[in-house]
Amino acid sequence: YDIVADIQRLKKEKNAVILAHYYEDGDIQDVADYVGDSFYLAKMGQQVQQDTILLAGVVFMAESVKILNPTKTVLVPDMEASCSLVKGAPYDKYLAWRQQYPDAVAVTYINSSAEVKSISDVIITSSNAQQIVESIPKDRKILFGPDQHLGRWLSKKLGRDFEYWNGACEVHVLFNAKRLVELIAQHPDAVVIAHPECDDSVLQYASVIGSTSRLLEEVEKNPAKKFIVATETGIFHQMQKKRPDVELIQAPVLDSGCSCNNCPYMKMNNMEKIKWALETYKPEVKLDEALRLKAKVSLDRMMDITS
Ligand code: MLT
Repeated sequence: YDIVADIQRLKKEKNAVILAHYYEDGDIQDVADYVGDSFYLAKMGQQVQQDTILLAGVVFMAESVKILNPTKTVLVPDMEASCSLVKGAPYDKYLAWRQQYPDAVAVTYINSSAEVKSISDVIITSSNAQQIVESIPKDRKILFGPDQHLGRWLSKKLGRDFEYWNGACEVHVLFNAKRLVELIAQHPDAVVIAHPECDDSVLQYASVIGSTSRLLEEVEKNPAKKFIVATETGIFHQMQKKRPDVELIQAPVLDSGCSCNNCPYMKMNNMEKIKWALETYKPEVKLDEALRLKAKVSLDRMMDITS
């Protein structure tokens, strides 16, 4: 049967919209109404008119939509689709850390739970982190978490010290600098582009570092014919659509036999689960109202600063 046609029909019947992240498989991106990074998906989630929003991504992204747009029914294909950054920043420990620095500004990556957002001052994503940190007065101490690599990259870029939470993305930290150097030697004509969640040992070889939207823009505009890409492979789908003429090479991990460049959480989603979610309105993201209102403060600040 034609699952794409079924999903399209269900969207109309249920007055639903599908928002998909760039790290999802190509078939999911193609059935979505809007495809983008976490910042774009949060913005679209706030603006869309339909009653039901299916967020094909990981659960914290759907939570952000629910926090910003609570009257909508927000669905995910799989409630188990978490994130190593979320898992590595449990609320109790994060709170204890935050309480050690009562005067600091808690700048928190959107890759965090609603509970952690509720004890943060401002949320950032990889595409707006610089703008948001630059808006914080220089004399204020910054607590940056949960992704230490994004924080360290930004700190270097802005010449400003942060206090770091010790978190990392389990996909991006596996890119291997030694093997990357070998790959660059084999492809001296390739442009190396990388996501700031990668370790600094890898980032030092990248000529462009940025969010998926920034990397996509680079592939679109840079006349080069070859790119080595250090981020999750889902983004290759849009890159190849925009530039069918270029060769995209995955940045290497140490164990060449594994499929470590795929996020295991993003890849839990599939077309069958999307269809089922639209049919049954399950799984639905629900948040305690008091928690939602607290978490909304830091997300609203992100929206205000970037608008
Ligand atoms: C996000 O913001 O969605 C993730 O950091 C990946 C990206 O850079 O887009």
